[in-house]
Amino acid sequence: MILCANFKANKTRQETQAYMAVVESFVSANEIDEAVIVFPPFTALEHISRNVLIGVQNAYPAQNGAYTGEITLEQLEEFGIKTILIGHSERRHVLGEMQEQIAAKFRFFAEKGFAIIYCVGEPIEIREQGNEALMHYIDAQFEGIDVNYADLIVAYEPVWAIGTGLTPTTDQIVDMHTALRSKTHAPLLYGGSVKVDNARSIMELQNVDGVLVGSASLSANDFCEMIALAAELKQQ
Ligand code: PGA
Repeated sequence: MILCANFKANKTRQETQAYMAVVESFVSANEIDEAVIVFPPFTALEHISRNVLIGVQNAYPAQNGAYTGEITLEQLEEFGIKTILIGHSERRHVLGEMQEQIAAKFRFFAEKGFAIIYCVGEPIEIREQGNEALMHYIDAQFEGIDVNYADLIVAYEPVWAIGTGLTPTTDQIVDMHTALRSKTHAPLLYGGSVKVDNARSIMELQNVDGVLVGSASLSANDFCEMIALAAELKQQ
């Protein structure tokens, strides 16, 4: 299983260090071999390569340059970062990133050999239009994306489930993950209101290879519990 913690714009550098200490010691004490990736804010990046991978939530697709407010490859290299989230719904819907920009970002970081966690997901009004509209919308989010990229992980995160406490039914998750599986061999994560209480029932679904957790990952103990659940599942 792959377990990702997306802090978004939460936690200071100091809080992140304390969090990492808890998660890292949990992972080593319990000999966890699940892939664990944490996406802290930029200000909390560190040059560390221990048993928990650090990724970035975003970056600008350039070596460096005149891109006010952005960070680029040069700054990521300084911290040894080789993992990036691309296409998260908050980047698409809150920050207004268009598919063309997202695809350009994907191409750039794929060329640089990054592990890419590529997010797709529909707003509620699209889901309400039925399956054809839903799949059409998701297909459009793959425009310009190389689904055969070797270091790709795809995360399905319905926009209406992110930060809302709502989760799709297990059938809805399985249907979408089955459709995604027919598109790509990449591992498939589910994201959107995953928490300790529902993580197990989501992770045991067919074609779910892990979870991308936002709010509930902010507690190091909760995130560790989810890691433990994933490890338990494997032993069965
Ligand atoms: P959430 O966020 O777990 O708070 O719903 C998930 C995400 O945005 O990745």
